[in-house]
Parts: sequence; structure tokens; C-alpha cells
Amino acid sequence: MIEIRGFVKRYDQFVAVDHLDLKIEKGDVFGFIGPNGAGKTTTIRFLTTLLKPTSGSATINGYEVTRQVDDVKRSIGFMPDTFGVYDGMKVWEFLDFFATAYGLLRSKRRALIEDVLNLVDLTSKRDALVNGLSRGMQQRLCLAKTLVHDPPVLILDEPASGLDPRARVEMKALLKELQKMGKTILVSSHILPELADFCNKIGIIERGKLLASGPVQDVIRSIRMNRIIEVVLSRPSEICEVTLAHHEHVRNLTAAENRYKFEFAGNNEDVIALHKELMNQDVPLVWFNEIQADLEEAFMKITKGLVA
Ligand SMILES: Nc1ncnc2c1ncn2[C@@H]1O[C@H](COP(=O)(O)OP(=O)(O)OP(=O)(O)O)[C@@H](O)[C@H]1O
Ligand SMILES: [Mg+2]
Repeated sequence: MIEIRGFVKRYDQFVAVDHLDLKIEKGDVFGFIGPNGAGKTTTIRFLTTLLKPTSGSATINGYEVTRQVDDVKRSIGFMPDTFGVYDGMKVWEFLDFFATAYGLLRSKRRALIEDVLNLVDLTSKRDALVNGLSRGMQQRLCLAKTLVHDPPVLILDEPASGLDPRARVEMKALLKELQKMGKTILVSSHILPELADFCNKIGIIERGKLLASGPVQDVIRSIRMNRIIEVVLSRPSEICEVTLAHHEHVRNLTAAENRYKFEFAGNNEDVIALHKELMNQDVPLVWFNEIQADLEEAFMKITKGLVA
């Protein structure tokens, strides 16, 4: 659905994006993740026909982004990282403006606007002024705008940036809804766990280079992270602390009251052996659990160049 081949963007001597290849299949929700200045927006601007590449090419929905601009535009809904100023414009007028720009007939526009407002939960704000909306509402309105021409592909540049936790949850729910509707979505963020729940694939970009990409769990596995284990006791146990502190596979042990957390460099057999050892020592064990690999940690690791 989206394919990028050898995309390079140079500003004078500075290479903003360096030979990026990427393939996103129909129905994928792809999380494009990287720290500030990594090249996310540059790549997105290229995909949305707003930026000429230094070299490389891309297709969206089968159309070449540099040559079939109109077809590409019709195929995508784009949410930029900034929200423009729309003085004196009402919510419905804002959507009507974009629907008109996409050539939708007046007779169809009214029902369509009601539909998208309903989807983003802004029906009650239909006649409110755009500039009077809260940031979260403006972001949802911006998302509504990307949907008016019912494009198969959505390209969203940091749709949750600047939102409070509650608005983030709402934005996530909305994206999940769009995923269910069968949209192919590329969504950028510099916060990894934010995307982990609903992206089936991720790509990690830093300083213009794609460091890893593919199914979420594959990317995590490729980083070869140690597993993380948490042990909770019903009361303090010195022997437990000593055992863990001196264990050959335990790294970065942290203790807080009766709770221990550490990285474990061993395999399954080693985990079983450790568990048995603690049991044999009559440690008052309430909880012995492996914590799922944390994407945030994966991200820190991968962008620190710890990956071969
Ligand atoms: N017009 C430009 N002229 C010169 N350098 C630019 C230009 N646009 C972007 N850059 C540089 O290209 C690099 C990538 O920028 P880009 O906006 O793509 O990053 P980003 O991943 O979107 O970051 P952020 O998370 O801050 O949005 C940055 O170092 C930026 O300074
Ligand atoms: Mg950006």
C-alpha cells in the first residue's frame, strides 16, 4: 500500500533522511518512531507530495508520489504536525471547506460531515468556532478532516502530541476505530509505548536512518533484550536479596520495599532454576513474574546504538 525506495533528502550538506526503504501493507497500522529531528516529518512530507526528494521514489496505493500527485492526494488523508489558524471558521465550515476541495457534491457533504463529526465525537461542537476548541478537540477535528474523502490510507504526523493523558487515550481509541474500518495507517510519534497497543508494525528512525522495522515483537526480539523479572515478597527477606544480588544472570537489580526488579540474562531453564532456588530458601514469594519487553526500553537501546 505504501512503498518507499531509497528515499534521500539532503539540505545542502546535511542529510535529513538517508536511503530509507519501507514497505507498509494494506491494513497495516505502522508506527513510525524516532526522536526529535530523526526525519519523520521529512519522510511524511515526501509521502504526502509536499517535498521533493533528493533521490528515491515512493508509491502509495499504486501511485507514484512524485508523478501522480492528484491520485496520491486522493488516496491519502493527511494530518500534519501543526494545526493551522482558522479565524472565524466554524467546525462544520472547516470540514465543508475540505470536502468541497475534494470535489464532494453539496448534496453529499452534509450527511458526510455529520458522520465524521460523530466518529470523532464532536457532534455537539458542530457550530462552535474552530479556534475556540481545546487542543484535544482540534486534533480530533483535524483527524475528521483527513476522513472526508474516505481515503484508504491515513498518514498522521504525531496526532497525540500535546494532548493530556485522557485525550491521548481518546485519540488512541479513535485510531483503533479507523483501523477496524480497514484503513492503512502510518502514524508517527516519538513516544513508543503510545503506539505499541495498536500498531502491528513499527519502524525506528534516528538521524535519518531506519534502524529497525517489522512486526512489533520481531523488532523487540531483534534487539536481543534481556528479559525483565519482578519478584514480590510478603515480607523482607535478606536471603532473597543476597541470592539475587549475587546471581550470575541477574543485572540491574532494583529493590523497593518487598519488590525486586531485575534484568535476567539466562534462558528458560535458568528462570526455572532461580524460581526453585528461591522456593527452596523458603522465601515468602507472592509473585514471580516476567514483565513483557517494554517498548520504551527497546527504543532507548536501539537509538543508543546498542544493536549490532
Ligand atoms: N527545510 C529544512 N532545511 C534544513 N534542514 C531541515 C529542513 N527541514 C528539516 N530539516 C532538518 O532535517 C532533520 C529532520 O527533521 P524532521 O522534521 O523530519 O524530524 P522529525 O523526526 O519530524 O522530528 P520531530 O520529532 O521534532 O518532529 C532535522 O535535523 C531538521 O533540522
Ligand atoms: Mg516531526
